[in-house]
Amino acid sequence: MRENELMIMENFLENKDEKLDIEDELYKKLMFFYKSALKQLNVQLDIIKDEFKTIYNYDLIDHIETRIKEPKSILKKMEKKKYSKTYVNLIEKINDVAGMRIICTLKDDIFFIRDLIKNMPNIHIVKEKDYVTNPKQSGYASYHMIVEVPLYLTQKTIYVKCEIQIRTLAMDFWASFEHKVKYKSEKGVSKKMSKELVSYAKMINRFDNKMIELKN
Ligand code: GTP
Ligand code: MG
Repeated sequence: MRENELMIMENFLENKDEKLDIEDELYKKLMFFYKSALKQLNVQLDIIKDEFKTIYNYDLIDHIETRIKEPKSILKKMEKKKYSKTYVNLIEKINDVAGMRIICTLKDDIFFIRDLIKNMPNIHIVKEKDYVTNPKQSGYASYHMIVEVPLYLTQKTIYVKCEIQIRTLAMDFWASFEHKVKYKSEKGVSKKMSKELVSYAKMINRFDNKMIELKN
């Protein structure tokens, strides 16, 4: 978040380095910003989804999911990353408090949606990661964007960070499956299983490429 936005958020925080307390009223107030920003972004993209369906008779977006990171997950992440648990660290360093997932049918649509978001005059792009062109070692593929969404409040407009993940239905299927497998086994999965998951991700990628061929 840029300086002035952070300052505005800080107006709610008497002491900048105040300890994060998920039971506190302050925490609820902070979450209001994230929830509202996500709501705003969701409306904007939902209109695009309907526009393509209604005007162009094309299902560009299959569906959109949103979530606010659970307080417990926020604390866990801050511990893992060794950030001291302050409000300012939460605001500055945790990019995925507000998260959106855009699921489409075809791989090409991912880049089309990416460009649509980039061209939205009110959205600022902070960071992008193209795991579609370069999947992660795990096999994970998706397009990630950290964006800043304006919140039109009574006094001022503030920009709030949201994480957007764009992926195909097939990529989403793989990611959900892989997440479940890894989540259930506490010690992580075996080398053999990891290898297998990577090979499934490659299958998914071949499938996504075939779908584009089919369309063409
Ligand atoms: P962190 O969110 O701090 O980990 O930031 P980062 O920049 O390392 O994250 P990255 O953008 O690579 O990924 C963030 C999100 O993508 C995660 O919270 C997951 O939702 C998803 N993700 C990343 N890698 C994997 C993976 O291997 N498997 C699955 N299922 N999801 C993944
Ligand atoms: Mg995350």
